[in-house]
Amino acid sequence: MTAVERPRPALALPQIQTLATADMAAVDTLIRNRLASDVVLINQIADHIISAGGKRLRPMLVVLAGRACGAVIPDHHQLAAIIEFIHTSTLLHDDVVDESDLRRGRSTANALWGNAPSVLVGDFLYSRSFQLMVELDRMEVMRILADTTNRIAEGEVLQLLHVHNPDTDEAAYLRVIERKTAVLFAAGTRLGALASNADAAGQRKLYDYGMNLGYAFQIADDVLDYTADAADLGKNLGDDLAEGKATLPLIHAIAHSDEKTRARLRAIVENGDGTAMPEVLAAIDATGGLEYSRRRAAEYAQAAEAALDGLEENDAIGALRGLARYSVERKS
Ligand code: IPE
Ligand code: IPE
Ligand code: MG
Ligand code: MG
Repeated sequence: MTAVERPRPALALPQIQTLATADMAAVDTLIRNRLASDVVLINQIADHIISAGGKRLRPMLVVLAGRACGAVIPDHHQLAAIIEFIHTSTLLHDDVVDESDLRRGRSTANALWGNAPSVLVGDFLYSRSFQLMVELDRMEVMRILADTTNRIAEGEVLQLLHVHNPDTDEAAYLRVIERKTAVLFAAGTRLGALASNADAAGQRKLYDYGMNLGYAFQIADDVLDYTADAADLGKNLGDDLAEGKATLPLIHAIAHSDEKTRARLRAIVENGDGTAMPEVLAAIDATGGLEYSRRRAAEYAQAAEAALDGLEENDAIGALRGLARYSVERKS
């Protein structure tokens, strides 16, 4: 007997947003209410980055994972806000480390206020997320989030060790993106399942979904750093190259170019030469580096979808599949 492959239903982004509207409004209210501090500069900087929006993908994943496994309760909103606070604090820190001056279509906090205020307000958001966590009074939640934030910090430092290193290969790149990006996606979807009282197997599926999605999302982000329209992206293109960060398209080009081009690409990574962008794009083009990276991202997105197999079908699962597809097809 041949197995008949059944199509996996997936929702499109507008349908997903409609499905999550009420929950995301509750999350937004919580985020705004819990930002407050009596230190004016904290309010200014936090409001600057939070009110710029962002896609709010991670908090949406928390509530959809919850809905995929049962009912959404106020704990999901709190967990979603926690995850977005952690994400936002890593962005404040990341823009200092990457010396980026555009984020969410606005000047970055480091460009406007300087590095020290950005790092310190990032710390404020990090610690605020821990205050919100403690309110939930569940040791398991605290353990997951403590482990996750620790892994993210490791990922950021690991990445720093690879900057200007032309020997960074795909395996090393994947180790970095697991920690700096994928673990937070995985924690969000796992916690969504946990708060819906999913059993261990259900939590595992949502965790695997989030982890694979996180890889797909970061690889897609790294492709967009070479290919996007800056106005759509709300970030400057070419930041990765300018800081000497070899991401998958360039890693592929270094591995597959002729000897002369390879030597040249290696020198560009060593020097972090943003002005070499046309040359680098030509080499990436010649080796199919963008197609390769998009294919790898699509494989992770497919693995994310496959991780949901076996769960009882509902609209939230269709939404999670849709987000896996969106993550690799997006323009911003
Ligand atoms: C940016 O994340 C950082 C990465 C992991 C690539 P997002 O692209 O989700 O940023 P916002 O929240 O939508 O601005
Ligand atoms: C994402 O890496 C880092 C975080 C997890 C904060 P990037 O450096 O590629 O993120 P963007 O492109 O600045 O958003
Ligand atoms: Mg960055
Ligand atoms: Mg990027």
